[in-house]
Amino acid sequence: MKVAIIGAGNMGGAIARGLCNGSIIAPEDIVLSNRSVAKLDAIKAQYATIVTTCDNRQATCHADMIILAVKPWLIKTVIDEIKPTPEQVVVSVAAGIDFDSLEAMLPQCGNTIFRLIPNTAISLQESLTLISSRNATPEQEQLMLDIFNEMGVAMLIPESQMSAATSMTSSGIAYALKYIQAAMQAGVELGIYPHDAMKMVAQSMKGAAELILQNDTHPAVEIDKVCTPGGYTIKGINSLEANGFTAAVIEAIKSSCS
Ligand SMILES: NC(=O)c1ccc[n+]([C@@H]2O[C@H](COP(=O)([O-])OP(=O)(O)OC[C@H]3O[C@@H](n4cnc5c(N)ncnc54)[C@H](OP(=O)(O)O)[C@@H]3O)[C@@H](O)[C@H]2O)c1
Repeated sequence: MKVAIIGAGNMGGAIARGLCNGSIIAPEDIVLSNRSVAKLDAIKAQYATIVTTCDNRQATCHADMIILAVKPWLIKTVIDEIKPTPEQVVVSVAAGIDFDSLEAMLPQCGNTIFRLIPNTAISLQESLTLISSRNATPEQEQLMLDIFNEMGVAMLIPESQMSAATSMTSSGIAYALKYIQAAMQAGVELGIYPHDAMKMVAQSMKGAAELILQNDTHPAVEIDKVCTPGGYTIKGINSLEANGFTAAVIEAIKSSCS
């Protein structure tokens, strides 16, 4: 299968690297197109056989799948330029552009379309990647899951959940980082060097996430294990609640849900 990626920025570049590192698409079957050359040269230096170009038409004319990884406001311009045929699978990474809008931009009807929302951890192959499909067969959906499960964890969800899920995952990674930053600030005030504080908090966050994922449990179960009656941790938990932690997180996720 030949894949064209339009846009070699944070997302397009990380997807290109992830595909090259993966087992499903050979680097020589990937064409990466970008407006300017610097990002293309950087990827070419890592993966010599990937094909790079600044010509979007040339990139897509022989592609079975076209991944659009430009900013949302450029999606229509790129589609008008490349004019996908109905046989080409179109994958949009653009946040906030729904299937109806994408279909209206395509020159003909009937394309299989995927919406894909990774988060920035895709650069480390640790993304939570959301996938929704329109006009796709179960085999096409499975292929997308297989490809993006190699870059972290991929979940196929209905489009109606895309906005809420994007808020929890793509924006949500920023909220998790905000907790890390806040905890580091506390550590520094308490006399820990910033770099040590970063390692302490980040590894604790990673451990917390692994406990939930590997035990397939609820956070309350793991919190309960840490809270000795009359101990220090429950005082901290109650202080978080008294200061509106849960309400603030819920409000942040709801307010970033388009
Ligand atoms: N960042 C995130 O966390 C995130 C998460 C989920 C989804 N997304 C979505 O991913 C998409 C890309 O975001 P990003 O963060 O990767 O943006 P980005 O880093 O700015 O990358 C966009 C790339 O597109 C290139 N480009 C612009 N116009 C082009 C054209 N006409 N033809 C070919 N290439 C063109 C740019 O080239 P230059 O090098 O010349 O500027 C740039 O390298 C957006 O639609 C966004 O909604 C982002």
